[in-house]
Amino acid sequence: MRPKVTVVGAGNVGASVAQYTVEKELADVVLVDVIEGVPQGKGLDLLQAGPIHHYDSRLTGSNSYDETGNSDIVVVTAGFPRKPGMTRDDLLFKNAEVVQVVTQEVARRSPNAILIMVTNPLDAMVQLAWKVSGFPPHRVMGMAGILDSARFRTFIAMELGVSVENVTAFVLGGHGDTMVPLPRYSTVAGIPITELLPRDKIDALVKRTANGGAEIVALLKTGSAFYAPAAAVVEMMEAILKDKKKILPCAAYLDGQYGVKGLYVGVPVKLGRMGVEQVIEIKLTPEEDVAFKKSAAAVRELVEKLKL
Ligand code: NAI
Ligand code: 2OP
Repeated sequence: MRPKVTVVGAGNVGASVAQYTVEKELADVVLVDVIEGVPQGKGLDLLQAGPIHHYDSRLTGSNSYDETGNSDIVVVTAGFPRKPGMTRDDLLFKNAEVVQVVTQEVARRSPNAILIMVTNPLDAMVQLAWKVSGFPPHRVMGMAGILDSARFRTFIAMELGVSVENVTAFVLGGHGDTMVPLPRYSTVAGIPITELLPRDKIDALVKRTANGGAEIVALLKTGSAFYAPAAAVVEMMEAILKDKKKILPCAAYLDGQYGVKGLYVGVPVKLGRMGVEQVIEIKLTPEEDVAFKKSAAAVRELVEKLKL
């Protein structure tokens, strides 16, 4: 039997998550959305791509949660994306209402699931979902660091004219304007980029990475990025469902690690069948530590606004 994944929100990110999931035959997928017909229509359309793309995964679309019971993973993309000029934080209260309802619905039907949150502002929404679900922290996490790191990797590869496959990069902190790309831990075929690029070039790539979401919002005008975000979610799901013990940057609960307690923030973690199996602590320079703490403080501010 294939694992079962529920994706709540059949919009741009959710539908792409469903598509990549079945294309990899990782799981059967239940797509849920409030808009009548949309999850059913997209589910059926994706099902009909199966014979061409060679997958047998089943897709079900629904406006209710009845079909979601006993999911192994629930991905929450429900909510509102940014419009030009909006920050992720502008979405706080609107999306908190959505995330609260969705989390209650999925948690009681799938009490053993792993929750992967996507809705923005990401870190605060993960904290909210953790509180509402009552799940242990290792089974609630957020996707952002893989996306931000993938953006940094893309820009590094473009700058050096090398394969993206040669490039690794780490972006820590909250998924907002204060995120912390770490050039020292970013490499090309194992060589730190600090050895390959001058400081001003690296600074420009770091800036473009931190602005990566807004750059796409400004181009699309009616929504935000979804292909790379969905690919990042599916990398997390694959690590979990195949128990790969993959080290990936995710929003995870910190209980004193990095000097932060009781808060979800982006850090490298080991992802396996249990969810977040370990938070990996890497040594930060004083400058990086200040930037990380500033980012965590920005997340805490939002969490406090939600009175969590
Ligand atoms: P979208 O507007 O295309 O899709 C959102 C879907 O959620 C819509 O179909 C809407 O009907 C549905 N929805 C709204 N309220 C709902 C509810 N109560 N129950 C079920 N479904 C509901 O938006 P998109 O582009 O898919 O983005 C979704 C969210 O993900 C946004 O908040 C966006 O900012 C965030 N995002 C986060 C990223 C990250 O790195 N963490 C990356 C990309 C997007
Ligand atoms: C992004 O970074 C909107 O948070 C989303 O593209």
